Amino acid sequence: MNNLFLIGFMGCGKSTVASALCRRYHLKQFEMDSEIVRQAGMPISQIFSRYGEEYFRTLETDLLRRLSGTGDLVVSCGGGAAMKEENVRLMRNSGRIILLTARPETILARTAHDHNRPLLEGRRTVADITELMEQRRPRYEAAADITVSTDGKRPDEIADEIIARCQ
Ligand code: S3P
Repeated sequence: MNNLFLIGFMGCGKSTVASALCRRYHLKQFEMDSEIVRQAGMPISQIFSRYGEEYFRTLETDLLRRLSGTGDLVVSCGGGAAMKEENVRLMRNSGRIILLTARPETILARTAHDHNRPLLEGRRTVADITELMEQRRPRYEAAADITVSTDGKRPDEIADEIIARCQ
């Protein structure tokens, strides 16, 4: 299978880069968060508040299990999806894992007005984002086949860099 899984912290540009990849290379985009929202019939913030984060995490794993039988997709993963070893195994079995990175300042600017990320509520400072990012970094890095920094780059440039480095 030749899926591309884009992983990385909230606001690192996974969805935007996935769109650019699909536009430029005629691939098919799949958004994990959107699919979970569609199936649950409620926004992520409500899934968290009603059923808790653990429940959301089981929905992510169920979805990745279903995706592992498909190919030719660019999958933008939720920012926490790569934290679970089982999820990483499922991704690895059906494609490559691309880690997108961005500086905490960039993340803060990109997520400043978005209130559909429960884990950022009340934590929109560079210090808080840095702390959460550092907690997650070892798992992101262990999961990644390729790491691409997004700071100061256009989505099209990032898409081209990913494809060049996947050859
Ligand atoms: C999460 C990231 C979000 C979404 C949920 C949890 C996380 O996705 O899946 O709010 O744990 O990092 P984005 O990375 O697309 O914001």
